[in-house]
Amino acid sequence: MTEIAKGLEGVLFTESKLTFINGTEGILTHLGIPIQEWAENSTFEELSYALLHAKLPSAAELAKFDAELRANRELPAKLVEEIASFPANVHPMQALRTAASYLGLFDPQAEETSEGARYAISIRMIAQFSTMIAAIARARRGEAIVAPRADLTHAANFLYMLRGEEPTPEQARLFDIALVLHADHGMNASTFTAIATSSTLSDMYSCMVSAIGALKGPLHGGANEAVMDMLDEVGTPDKAAEYINGKLDRKEKIMGVGHRVYKNFDPRSRVLRDYAEHVANQQGKSNYYQILETIEKTVIDRIGSKGIYPNVDFYSGTVYSDLGIPKEFFTPIFALARISGWCASVIEYTRDNRLLRPDAVYTGATDQHYVDLKDRQ
Ligand code: ACO
Repeated sequence: MTEIAKGLEGVLFTESKLTFINGTEGILTHLGIPIQEWAENSTFEELSYALLHAKLPSAAELAKFDAELRANRELPAKLVEEIASFPANVHPMQALRTAASYLGLFDPQAEETSEGARYAISIRMIAQFSTMIAAIARARRGEAIVAPRADLTHAANFLYMLRGEEPTPEQARLFDIALVLHADHGMNASTFTAIATSSTLSDMYSCMVSAIGALKGPLHGGANEAVMDMLDEVGTPDKAAEYINGKLDRKEKIMGVGHRVYKNFDPRSRVLRDYAEHVANQQGKSNYYQILETIEKTVIDRIGSKGIYPNVDFYSGTVYSDLGIPKEFFTPIFALARISGWCASVIEYTRDNRLLRPDAVYTGATDQHYVDLKDRQ
């Protein structure tokens, strides 16, 4: 009998030098370096370089890469005008998908698929995704769009454009760490989607628009927003255990827990939990943090034996909330970070490209003949 790998679980379709995950032991490395070390010591700019080049940059290489990102932050004026006119009630991921596609119309290299062109476009997209997302957020609130500043880091500049004022160094660093934690994660659904599109030798903008669509769903990037909806629904910490038990009794899924690969703690959630706890201890424990603590305990008690533990989305929302980021922007921020992983994975796969074309076991009817419309029941 033919075995079907439902959800492509365990299917190996390519090799990669970028990211290693051991889901049983809760290990995640980029270029062999543990994610905790990246979070502690590195920046989003450095990890983006490392993913795109599959090596750590020298100081000069990093400075050049950073300068290129800073020089490419501005959006075409026509796109800024379009973003300002987007309907305010659409989900920001719809707006981002549209803006990313529109951005490609202004890139003279958009149709080029050489490795050099894919790399040049990647730098522009990593820089401009940040500006697009901040612009979408400001326009949605009816506020004037803030132009990027070249004197700020990638993380600080995003918060500046979003809020209209410079973040503190601590806020910028916390956001930078969140970007580092989300920058790449192997063959997740959106990266796989980007690669599937690139495997047809399609262009970078088409790859990224496909990936945004895949990230949007609540089983993937959309889960961080769904976690905040859940926290708002729970309301107060004393109601959390009853809420979760009720959901599990009804066989409903709890957002922000469970993972296709991790059957133990997602190491990224541990880093974020430490920061969420640090912020909570500094400011007095927020309702959100206390609700999360109870949910984590209840979930592990009830279904930890099935390998269900908090994933990266579980604590990211509270960290973003503390930074003043509205919850409907949590998933666009995921895209702001994951764009580096998407671009790097597409470039890596394309070097030894083979069209992705899986198959299905046919279970439909056989030996039928066409029935004229007038003779059908
Ligand atoms: N809540 C309750 N039970 C769960 C959950 C959950 N979140 N996740 C899995 N389970 C249970 C399933 O019901 C199943 O139980 P059973 O064996 O008794 O039928 C068992 O655990 C295995 O679950 P699967 O659905 O087979 O796991 P799969 O690998 O297909 O799903 C997924 C992984 C989609 C992430 C799932 O855990 C889920 O829906 N989580 C909530 C959404 C979420 O947080 N997504 C973000 C993932 S991380 C990221 O993309 C950044």
